[in-house]
Amino acid sequence: MDLFEYQARDLFEEYGVPVLAAKVADTPEDAKQAAEALGGGTVVVKSQVKIGGRGKAGGVKLAHDPDEAAQRANEILGLDIKGHVTKRVMIAEGADIAEEYYFSILLDRANRTFLAMCSKEGGMEIEQLAVERPEALARVEVNAITGIDEAKAREIAEAAGFDAATTEKLIPVFVRLWATFQGEDASLVEVNPLVKTGAGEIIALDGKVSLDENASFRHESHESLRDLDAENPLELKAKQLDLNYVKLDGEVGIIGNGAGLVMSTLDVVAYAGENHSGVKPANFLDIGGGASAEVMANGLSVILGDEQVKSVFVNVFGGITACDAVANGIVSALEILGDSASKPLVVRLDGNAVEEGRAILAEANHPLVTVVDTMDGGADKAAELAAAN
Ligand SMILES: Nc1ncnc2c1ncn2[C@@H]1O[C@H](COP(=O)(O)OP(=O)(O)OP(=O)(O)O)[C@@H](O)[C@H]1O
Ligand SMILES: [Mg+2]
Repeated sequence: MDLFEYQARDLFEEYGVPVLAAKVADTPEDAKQAAEALGGGTVVVKSQVKIGGRGKAGGVKLAHDPDEAAQRANEILGLDIKGHVTKRVMIAEGADIAEEYYFSILLDRANRTFLAMCSKEGGMEIEQLAVERPEALARVEVNAITGIDEAKAREIAEAAGFDAATTEKLIPVFVRLWATFQGEDASLVEVNPLVKTGAGEIIALDGKVSLDENASFRHESHESLRDLDAENPLELKAKQLDLNYVKLDGEVGIIGNGAGLVMSTLDVVAYAGENHSGVKPANFLDIGGGASAEVMANGLSVILGDEQVKSVFVNVFGGITACDAVANGIVSALEILGDSASKPLVVRLDGNAVEEGRAILAEANHPLVTVVDTMDGGADKAAELAAAN
């Protein structure tokens, strides 16, 4: 999960990383009040969108007094930056910048370690710097166990070519940025620019933080950082129901058990769709091992809530949860859903207790359900029904 700059700023503050006072506003009037609350002097009005290059796109502007802050906010609110529309701005104190540096910590997958990157030349385009003058961007490996202690922080600052005095000032900041990275289970912490002010202070003027969602179970507070507006409502519902669901752009809803089976179901449906007006899979949904009636009903209700869906293909291989349990799950799910189940369902069962499972579906004889024998046959039938609806 990527954070907004203001959220990253708040985390930095918690961990003792020096940041500027700032407030968030979603109207020009709020922006004016924020600027007043910050002392009425010069502020910077910054678009809060989860994409880089805000400054170049006109999303970062200086304002000398609260009225000008309101004007700048008025210009920036609603601004579209590479497809991301600005809904909020951050009003931050104006800094007296003497020098701009770059610092980041990230996961280096290829080398199975963490990596710190640092440069004396921060500011706008770090990607360009990395390509054109890679020698100006220091890369220092960071061990996951020892992290960035004072010695490692010194090594990073020296590798970037800082003088002794600046190095001493950077060391505690790097150590705290590592504390943020580790403490919050981040996969990226980037500060561009990290500045030195005229008075010689080091301040994190911008912040990009990505959190590792695999660790969300040990960070209750991260839930509140989620940008619910930006999430797909079906994916949100699926998440609340604890389902492994990804919305796609097609017409054939897919339910399967086991990620591998669901992935190959997507493939066969896409392939079958070529013969049926080019219909495509509408989602990925893995209901996992225990396909209880409740899980099946939850899965079906998410998929049927997708207006684009014209048919559903349930493709289950009975293992620990045998086919009879899955069939009972489908039958009770359809009972639970009642009239809200309105689209044709193609069901292919195989594996443990397949005969019993098929018998249960035959017995129920639900008008929406077609039982098929093979995966390819099921994909074809589901694609045909989707194309016809
Ligand atoms: N509080 C501030 N006071 C003075 N100048 C600032 C302040 N915040 C930002 N700036 C100036 O604006 C420039 C761009 O700001 P920032 O890094 O936050 O946005 P960006 O780099 O354009 O956006 P992104 O990081 O999304 O690519 C900074 O390099 C700095 O020169
Ligand atoms: Mg920046």
